[in-house]
This record gives sequence, C-alpha cells and structure tokens, in this order.
Amino acid sequence: MNRAQEKFTPQTITHLHTWTPSLFSFRCTRDAGFRFTAGQFARLGVRKASGAIVWRGYSMVSSPFDEFLEFFSIVVPGGEFTSELSQLAVGDEILVEKQAHGFLTLSRFVDGDHLWLLATGTGLAPFLSMLQDFEVWQRFQRIVLVYSVRSEEELAYRDMLDEILTREYVAEHAHKFTFVPVVTREQVPGCLNARITDLLTSGVLEQHVGLPMQAQNSRVLLCGNPEMVEDCRMLLQQRDMQLSMMRKPGAVAVENYW
Ligand SMILES: Cc1cc2nc3c(=O)[nH]c(=O)nc-3n(C[C@H](O)[C@H](O)[C@H](O)COP(=O)(O)OP(=O)(O)OC[C@H]3O[C@@H](n4cnc5c(N)ncnc54)[C@H](O)[C@@H]3O)c2cc1C
Ligand SMILES: NC(=O)c1ccc[n+]([C@@H]2O[C@H](COP(=O)([O-])OP(=O)(O)OC[C@H]3O[C@@H](n4cnc5c(N)ncnc54)[C@H](OP(=O)(O)O)[C@@H]3O)[C@@H](O)[C@H]2O)c1
Repeated sequence: MNRAQEKFTPQTITHLHTWTPSLFSFRCTRDAGFRFTAGQFARLGVRKASGAIVWRGYSMVSSPFDEFLEFFSIVVPGGEFTSELSQLAVGDEILVEKQAHGFLTLSRFVDGDHLWLLATGTGLAPFLSMLQDFEVWQRFQRIVLVYSVRSEEELAYRDMLDEILTREYVAEHAHKFTFVPVVTREQVPGCLNARITDLLTSGVLEQHVGLPMQAQNSRVLLCGNPEMVEDCRMLLQQRDMQLSMMRKPGAVAVENYW
C-alpha cells in the first residue's frame, strides 16, 4: 500500500513536557490535511519492537488553528500503548489517523447560556482545545471549567489557562470564565476537596461558582473517568438534563476515556 492509500500519516514529535512521573504532554507535527473540531480526538499509533502498531484515542489539546498537534497523556503502568508512548523522544515518529473522531463538541448544543466543562485527569485535554477556539467565548455568557485530580502536582496546564485568558480574541470575554480546580486526596488552598459527583449532589459546586446548573440554560460536557461520567450523567438526568442526541438536542454530552 502506498502512503496516499494508508489511513494514517507519520508525524514527528517536536516537544515533550513531563508534569509528574505518570503525566506528560507532547507536541508533534500536523499533516496539512488533518482537520478537526475542538473537542475531537485523534487515533494515535506507536510501533512496537515486533513491528505491530498499537492504536489509541487521544483528544487534541491544541486548537484547530495551531500548526502542530498537542496531546496530554497518562502513563498506565504496563499499559500496552503508554508503555511505548512514554519512551518516545523528540524526533521520534508517531502515527496519526487521517480522520479525526468524536462528538464532544459544541455542535452538540443548539442553545444554552452557561457552559460547564467537567473533567477528571487527562479528560482536561478537549476542554483546553475548546477554550482556545473563539466559538466558545462568543456563544456562552459563562464558562466553568471543573478539573478534578488526586493530588496538587497533577493539576497540569494552569499556566496555559491563565495565558489563554490574555489572548487578544479572549481577553474581552475573560470575565465569563471560572476555573474550579478540585484536588480529592489532599487539602489544597484554593481548591475544592471532594469528587465532582459529591460536589454536584451537595450543591457545593454551584454555591462555589455562584451559578445554578439547570436544564433551561446550562449545557454540560463531561470527560474522563467513565464512572465519573456515568454518575454525573445520572445526577444530571435527575435535573431533567438529558444527553444530547443528533435528532434530539439536549443539555449533556460525554466522552469516556476507558
Ligand atoms: C475518545 C478517547 C480519547 C482519549 N483521550 C485521551 C487523552 O487525551 N489522554 C490520555 O492520556 N488518554 C486518553 N484516552 C485513553 C487512551 O486511549 C488509552 O487508554 C491510554 O493511552 C492508555 O493506553 P494503554 O494501552 O497504556 O492502557 P489501556 O489498556 O488502554 O488502559 C488500561 C487502564 O488504564 C486506565 N486508563 C486508561 N487511560 C487513562 C487515562 N487517560 N487516565 C486515567 N486512567 C486511564 C484505565 O483503568 C484502563 O482500564 C482516550 C480514550 C478515548 C476512548
Ligand atoms: N494519580 C495517581 O497518583 C496514580 C498512582 C498510581 C496509579 N494510578 C493509576 O492511574 C490511573 C488513573 O489515575 P488518575 O488519577 O489520572 O485518574 P482517576 O482515578 O480517574 O482520578 C482523577 C480524578 O477523578 C476522580 N474520580 C475518580 N472516580 C470518580 C468517580 N466515580 N466520580 C467522581 N470522581 C471520580 C478522582 O477522585 P478520587 O481521588 O476520589 O478517586 C480524581 O480526583 C488509575 O487507573 C490509577 O489506578 C494513579
């Protein structure tokens, strides 16, 4: 099969950043033909020593307008993909499927004033892409990012979040944004200290932000740990906030990472 017929392109790793022993980010070159909407994911491939290729989904951190692709990754001890990925160095090859995938995008919502972005761990990634895209700032009056990790050192991308708010196209909308860092296994000043599910049940999240989460005008995107996603989805259903379907727009869209 020649390269044009293959469903992926080989790209080159250009930057690596280690956050913790089990969290890192990397950038790679981007094929000019690779198109995506903020919130979508790519299928990435790494070649094992045997020559076999292992594929996994990865949400883009970078914006659709960047010339590079950026990803934020966990390292799963013994994980088939991340054991290989975490060994890669600048200059190494990474394979990227030509077609982007996923429905965790703003196109899932036809209306709404307040956008809630609820992430655990690396589930932050698609929201970073979205926050770099002008559409979110134009469409919503309030944008709340809730980012839950176990320990403070895992709160990645805080500098980038600050920096996004100063960008020319965002600065006039920056007042709309509320960042809620959540650290569940340590007490950290400035961070909430309970699971997102518990913060929703107790009402503490809404009190903290000063905004109700309600079917009428709130839209919610959930990403990361599948138990968190499912439990939040059920809690939101109790508020009459339903999953958004192609033919029946709702208030909630989700992405499970495993
Ligand atoms: C649509 C989609 C988008 C994804 N985007 C990302 C992303 O942007 N960044 C990322 O790191 N992963 C992402 N993942 C998960 C990723 O595809 C792999 O599961 C991950 O790279 C681990 O691969 P592995 O082969 O090493 O372990 P796997 O065999 O795939 O997973 C083993 C176990 O590790 C745990 N695990 C897997 N992924 C994660 C994770 N991200 N955070 C915490 N625990 C995890 C789970 O318990 C899982 O059962 C995404 C998954 C999907 C379906
Ligand atoms: N992060 C580490 O230090 C560490 C160390 C060794 C191994 N690992 C392994 O790495 C993998 C991923 O770890 P991770 O910390 O990135 O992801 P994670 O386990 O999904 O935890 C990320 C955040 O999500 C919260 N969370 C987990 N389940 C939830 C649920 N059902 N409802 C609401 N919130 C929930 C966690 O709170 P809680 O803290 O309350 O769970 C934490 O704040 C796991 O398989 C883990 O076994 C992680």
